[in-house]
Amino acid sequence: MRKNKKKIFSGLCCAIVLIIFTTSLNSKDNEQRIKEELESPQLKIPLKEALGEEKYKKEINSGKYYYVGNSKCRLCHREFFIGRKKDKHDFAFKRLVETGYETNPKCLVCHTTGFGVPTGFKSIEETPRLANVQCEGCHGPGSLHIKIARKTKKGGGFLASPNDPITQKKMCNACHTERWNRSYHKNDLDKVYKLYKNPDPRKRKDNKNKQ
Ligand code: HEC
Ligand code: HEC
Ligand code: HEC
Ligand code: HEC
Repeated sequence: MRKNKKKIFSGLCCAIVLIIFTTSLNSKDNEQRIKEELESPQLKIPLKEALGEEKYKKEINSGKYYYVGNSKCRLCHREFFIGRKKDKHDFAFKRLVETGYETNPKCLVCHTTGFGVPTGFKSIEETPRLANVQCEGCHGPGSLHIKIARKTKKGGGFLASPNDPITQKKMCNACHTERWNRSYHKNDLDKVYKLYKNPDPRKRKDNKNKQ
C-alpha cells in the first residue's frame, strides 16, 4: 500500500516537472519566433497575398468592399456566435497585448482583421471592433455580401469565399506561414479547413492538430 502511494507520488512529480518544462520550452520558442518575425521584412497583407496584387488593387479601389465588424454578421448568422469564444482566432489580439506588441504592424497584420487595408484595423483606440481575426479576417470585407444578402436573401459578394476554396485557402496560408505553423502543418490544411463549416467551434472536435 505504502509503496503504491510512493509510486503515485513520484509519478505525479514527474508529470509536474514535465509540464513545467514543456511550457517553458514553449514560451522560449515563442520568444524566438517573435524575434525572427521582428527581424524579417514586413509581411504582405493576407488579402493581398490571397488575391494577388492586381486583383486586390482593382477590387479594393472599387469602393464596394469595406470591413463592417462581427456585430453586423451576428444579425443573420447567430449560430456562428454561440461558441465563438472557443475559437482562438477571437483571442489573437490578446496575444499581442500579453507580449506587448499590440501596436507593431509586423504583428498586427496576422492578429487583427484587415490591418493594412484602408477600411481595416488601424489601432485598438480607432477600430476596436476589428481587433482579433474575426469573420471578415478569413472571408474578406463583408459590405457587399450584406448588401446582396439583404436584397436577395442569398449569399455571395466575398473576395475570399468558402465557395472559392482556392482563394479561401490562400487566405489561411497567408497567416499560417512556415514560422507560425503550429495550428496545422501545410499539408494538413484540407483536414482543418473542413471543420470550419461547423458554426460551433466546440464541435470542431476531430481537430487533432491543436497545439
Ligand atoms: C442580411 C443578412 C446577412 C448578413 C448581415 C450577413 N450574412 Fe452571410 N449570408 C446570408 C445568407 C442569406 C447567406 C446564404 C445562406 C447561408 O449560407 O446561410 C449567407 C452566406 C454566407 C457565407 C457563405 C458563402 C456565401 O457567400 O454564400 C459566408 C461565408 C457568410 N455569409 C459570412 C458572413 C459574414 C462574414 C458577415 C458579416 C460581415 C455576414 N455573412 C453577414 C445573410 C447574411
Ligand atoms: C504571418 C502571420 C503572423 C505574424 C506576422 C505574427 N503572428 Fe503570432 N501567430 C500567428 C499564428 C498563425 C499563431 C498560432 C500559432 C501557430 O499556428 O503557430 C500565432 C500565435 C502567436 C502567439 C501565441 C503562441 C502560443 O503559444 O500559442 C503569440 C504570443 C504571438 N503569435 C505573438 C506574435 C507577435 C508578438 C508577433 C509580431 C512580432 C506575431 N505574433 C506575428 C501568426 C502570426
Ligand atoms: C479561421 C477562418 C474562418 C473564420 C474566422 C470564420 N470562417 Fe466561416 N468558414 C471558414 C471556412 C474554411 C469555411 C468553409 C468550410 C467548408 O466549406 O468546408 C467557412 C464557411 C462558412 C459559411 C458557409 C457554411 C456552409 O454551410 O457552407 C458561413 C455562413 C460562414 N463561414 C460564416 C462565418 C461567420 C459568420 C464567421 C464569424 C463568426 C466566420 N464564418 C468566421 C473559415 C472561417
Ligand atoms: C489574419 C490571419 C489569419 C487567417 C486569415 C487565418 N488564421 Fe488561423 N490563426 C491565426 C492566429 C493569429 C491564430 C492564433 C490565435 C491565438 O492563439 O490566440 C490562429 C489559430 C488557428 C487555429 C488554432 C485554433 C484553436 O482554436 O486551437 C487553427 C486550427 C487555424 N487558425 C486554422 C485556420 C484556417 C483553416 C484558416 C483559413 C480558413 C485560418 N486559420 C485563417 C491567424 C489567422
